[in-house]
Amino acid sequence: MKYTGCAYYPEYWGYDRIDTDAVLMREAGMNVVRIGEFAWSFMEPQDGRFDFDWLRRAIEKLAHYEIQTILCTPTAAAPAWLVKAHPETLIVNKQGQRVYHGVRQHTCYVSPMFRNYAERVVEAMARAMSGLDSIVGWQIDNEIGCSMFGNCHCEACQERFREWLVEKYGTLEMLNRMWGTAFWSMVYTAWNEIYLGDNGLNLASSRVLDSYRFFSEMKTEYALRQADILRRHFPGTIITTNNIVGVDMYKVFGGLDRVGSDLYFAGPSMRGHRELISWMDFSRSVKPEIPYWLMETALGLSGFPPPVPHNRRFRPCFWSFIAHGAEAVLIFQWRCCLAGQEKYGNGILEHNGAARHLYKTVQQVFLESRALKERLTNLPMPINEVGIIRDFNAELTCAAGRLSDRIDPSSVAFGWYKALTDRQVSVDFLPPDRDWKNHRLIILPPSPHVPESLAEKIRSFVADGGVVVCVGSLGMMDDYSNFLSQSGPEHLNDVFGISLEGSLFLGVKNAQWGSAPDNVAASVKGTIGGQTVDGQMSSWIVDVELTGAKALLTFTEGTYTGQPAITMHRFGKGSAIYVAAAAINSELLEKLLVEALLLARVRPLVEAPAEVDVVRRGSIWFIINHADQAIEVRLNKAGQALLGHYAGGCACLEPYGVCIVDSKED
Ligand code: GAL
Ligand code: ZN
Repeated sequence: MKYTGCAYYPEYWGYDRIDTDAVLMREAGMNVVRIGEFAWSFMEPQDGRFDFDWLRRAIEKLAHYEIQTILCTPTAAAPAWLVKAHPETLIVNKQGQRVYHGVRQHTCYVSPMFRNYAERVVEAMARAMSGLDSIVGWQIDNEIGCSMFGNCHCEACQERFREWLVEKYGTLEMLNRMWGTAFWSMVYTAWNEIYLGDNGLNLASSRVLDSYRFFSEMKTEYALRQADILRRHFPGTIITTNNIVGVDMYKVFGGLDRVGSDLYFAGPSMRGHRELISWMDFSRSVKPEIPYWLMETALGLSGFPPPVPHNRRFRPCFWSFIAHGAEAVLIFQWRCCLAGQEKYGNGILEHNGAARHLYKTVQQVFLESRALKERLTNLPMPINEVGIIRDFNAELTCAAGRLSDRIDPSSVAFGWYKALTDRQVSVDFLPPDRDWKNHRLIILPPSPHVPESLAEKIRSFVADGGVVVCVGSLGMMDDYSNFLSQSGPEHLNDVFGISLEGSLFLGVKNAQWGSAPDNVAASVKGTIGGQTVDGQMSSWIVDVELTGAKALLTFTEGTYTGQPAITMHRFGKGSAIYVAAAAINSELLEKLLVEALLLARVRPLVEAPAEVDVVRRGSIWFIINHADQAIEVRLNKAGQALLGHYAGGCACLEPYGVCIVDSKED
């Protein structure tokens, strides 16, 4: 753990306030601020007239107080003069309307005009900042893809999309074939007849899927071009970006030095700790072995929309973030604004600049973390035996189709993640092409297309003794989201001992033809581990025929009555389990999970209630209580508490308490 800090806006608060702020920051255990992500109007007040003096002076002054800087490129907030002079840089939304200045993230990531301006200011900025060694990192843009206007559909995007399609398909004939345009007479006779498909109707799913892939690649290209510029001027300085969305995370962060995430308690209810931590586990997994940076959090302290006023969760969440691999934790933001877009959101300091209750909450936690800095730096990452696949392609494929857009493989992944981690079995998220080194159990959420390489991995993994659980759609489509003319699961029939055909969507809302009830489910019954079980399957179910597997459960109602619902097949030394639905009720999931863990010989780290987060990093154990009641957790190991109370092999956690143990035995 290296950095604790916050977002800071010297362009808003002025130079004269920096001394006061920096002293308060230091006293709060901060050593870094994140600056500049919306300051373009100050960096380039007029076209081509740059002013970075104020920024240099601010960074130098902060450095004087040993506050380092993560500097952000300002391209998320193009100045009013720029979009006035060049309206073509503004996003065109999916309804075809050109959007307006007045909120941030209003410009197009593809527009050559916008890219010229963006890259010019980044270049000028990097040049002007050279020699400032308190800059410990760069953040590119801010939350790329999080625009309230959605993806851009401007003429430049349409043109670039067509080029992308020419590159991908070569000929119109090929495109027509792969997009299935013969149906409904959608045939294209010229490239310029084609438009991006994020049109909200989601009918032509091949077009929508290609559009989503295109948006992902464009945002990635946009970010990495800025990274190239920064790297030329700041070789060796860490470059990241924060909370980029609609993008293949493995790809974009493959070109950057750290994974950067933002994580808030969103909406009217606070997110549960597993949901928060799952995002951290995902952030850790995107670049394994490399810690990630949490660029923004508020953790019940602040944020917009304002969260539930309850800040006792800050401490356990902070420690869970560190435990799961964060190297930097920055709070949004330093001080409540008096005016402007975020004046109703909270800051660590009050509107009047006073350090009151929230400041003290942050201070306590940051200071206790600073005291442990040496002991907790460069810890080995957790070694986990269970992996859950997060495949961007599968997620996009589902999102792009009418009906299939109701299936979200990442939510399925989270359901299994929660069941596992609630039992104290820790988990890695994995891209389909990474090695399954230490893993004995792999969960594969809906994967409409299974490339041969993934199938081969599954085959040898199971043959060598691994256990795989595949949930929902499996190898029934090609990479263009067209159904195969042979039964699924492609390349894997023999491994699973099943044949998949047909499928039904259950209880999904259908915008075009009215709403079906949400709770339609099919009952299932059978035996798991010698015990009779029943349950419900919903969302999407499929017609399974056994070709070697045995059915653990079968459907007892509906179209597939009597058909297999969960199957198991011994293959080589391992087992391949198939769940013939995208969603199953949690009791059934739990029972299946217990069986899969037994087969894979995976045991929990410790016995502890679900509210406790336990993470092992080498000899260090983090035991973190996310509940409002005291809990005891037995590690049964000799060890010494670095934080909290540990005696007789037992951690005693007060409500929301934290115990960090250095266990001598490991
Ligand atoms: C984030 C954004 C910040 C701030 C924050 C909450 O999504 O990156 O700039 O707006 O939300 O107020
Ligand atoms: Zn555009």
